[in-house]
Amino acid sequence: MSQITLVDCAPQTGDFEQDLISGLSETPKTLPCKYFYDRRGSELFEQICELDEYYPTRSEISILRQHGSEIAATIGSGCALIEFGSGSGLKTEVLLSKLSDPAAYVPVDISREHLKLAATDLSRKFPDLDVVPVCADFTDEFHIPPERLNGSPRTVYFSGSTIGNFEHSDAIELLQRIAQLCESGGGLLIGVDLQKDRAVLEAAYDDSEGVTRDFNHNLLRRANAELGADFDLSQFDHLARYDEQHDRIEMHLVSRSDQQVTVADQTFEFTEGETIHTENSHKFTLQGFAEVAAQAGFHVRSVWTDPNEYFSVQYLVVDD
Ligand code: AVJ
Repeated sequence: MSQITLVDCAPQTGDFEQDLISGLSETPKTLPCKYFYDRRGSELFEQICELDEYYPTRSEISILRQHGSEIAATIGSGCALIEFGSGSGLKTEVLLSKLSDPAAYVPVDISREHLKLAATDLSRKFPDLDVVPVCADFTDEFHIPPERLNGSPRTVYFSGSTIGNFEHSDAIELLQRIAQLCESGGGLLIGVDLQKDRAVLEAAYDDSEGVTRDFNHNLLRRANAELGADFDLSQFDHLARYDEQHDRIEMHLVSRSDQQVTVADQTFEFTEGETIHTENSHKFTLQGFAEVAAQAGFHVRSVWTDPNEYFSVQYLVVDD
């Protein structure tokens, strides 16, 4: 196997203590969803992807399998595939197996460990592929040395509908940066989750096995373990609710009682029923997403969906 050289952009990983304290000081209380993904949280997320109720991963993979040759033809041959988040290996594998003669695979991830594992695994599966892992925070500016892309047209792959985690203005900013990165002649292949029956949505984020509850609770467990906080997990309920005003699933942790919690010598009061807002997951109509994309300078060239029209994979190109 050829040697893999990592491009290290030395991303800031964020300050959990500071962000927790400032989030708990706000009204309503919040916590950034990026802190879900420590080792335990990443394991739980992988379990979520296997749940019967959690349709996005399965739907996206089925779309890639079903429409792979058309997707590959649309992207064209010889592209450098730049993946935002080194993500679930299976999607990448399916996509790469369909692409015609990819010039390079460039996973971009903030977690150096996760990135190395994903890159090694992928290059074992595709021994002829040039794999160029980039350790960077893709929500921030970062630079890929152009010579590592072999002068190839660039296709950014952003899977899982992670774009749904962002407020619309932040999503537009991120898409604008992607448009700059892929240049004219390149494009963006993006997974976008669609609006649907609220019962289906709410079940996907409040599964019967309680894995998503554990995933949400993991933020508190992590605060206790890393920061010496004293959250009593049994005093917080998991809540996942579709908000029709904002077209999004909101996840919260709901205090079951009036209680106090201490984090780094600071005390925070909770009243019964008060929540910590931990995640948004926006759901789109095809029209609504096209409008968001247009504001970033993209237009939608092709859309593929599963038979239920639960999820979409879309190819966007930069306006001339
Ligand atoms: C990884 C952000 C796409 O919003 O569906 C899954 C995260 N949260 N279950 C999503 C998540 C709860 C997931 N994304």
